[in-house]
Amino acid sequence: MYAYRCLTLFVLMISLVHCTSKEDAEKAAKTSPSPVEAAEEQPEVHGTPVGAITLTNPLNKEWVAQGQAIYDTKCLACHKLDATRIVGPGWKDVTTRRKPEWVMNMITNVEMMLETDEEAQKLLEQCLVRMPNQNITQAEARSIYEFMRSNDGEK
Ligand code: HEC
Repeated sequence: MYAYRCLTLFVLMISLVHCTSKEDAEKAAKTSPSPVEAAEEQPEVHGTPVGAITLTNPLNKEWVAQGQAIYDTKCLACHKLDATRIVGPGWKDVTTRRKPEWVMNMITNVEMMLETDEEAQKLLEQCLVRMPNQNITQAEARSIYEFMRSNDGEK
């Protein structure tokens, strides 16, 4: 029941996003294949599970800054940096409650995680919204992870 409601919400969100780009795409389709459409059809980096990653100290400042920039544009609407849940869980201590590979997979392979990972499914039960696939590369996810470490007080 919950899952059904989530799915409906998710589909609704997706169709909202699609409304504008669809009009543009239809206009462009009359002449040549639209780059928007081409981009949408493309298989994503998703489906490639993230292998073991190595963490080093001190933190890579450049990655922290890149990660923060991605957070500001693509994650902030649903995730706070403290422990408060809004749409998704707050990020405080996410680097201590989860393994880095788990977090990286959640960022780059969210569909896979929601289908196969028990912990991810538990979160879905609490949040009632499926985290959308944000089309994040593994390199970008790594910089987001560095930003999360910094948010958790690592130096
Ligand atoms: C539309 C809302 C939304 C956006 C945008 C979003 N998320 Fe999420 N996120 C969620 C929800 C909801 C969950 C809980 C799992 C679920 O219900 O799918 C989640 C879970 C997570 C988790 C697991 C957290 C934990 O406590 O274990 C991580 C990590 C995460 N998201 C990272 C990201 C990153 C990185 C971005 C931006 C690139 C992002 N999310 C963007 C909604 C969102």
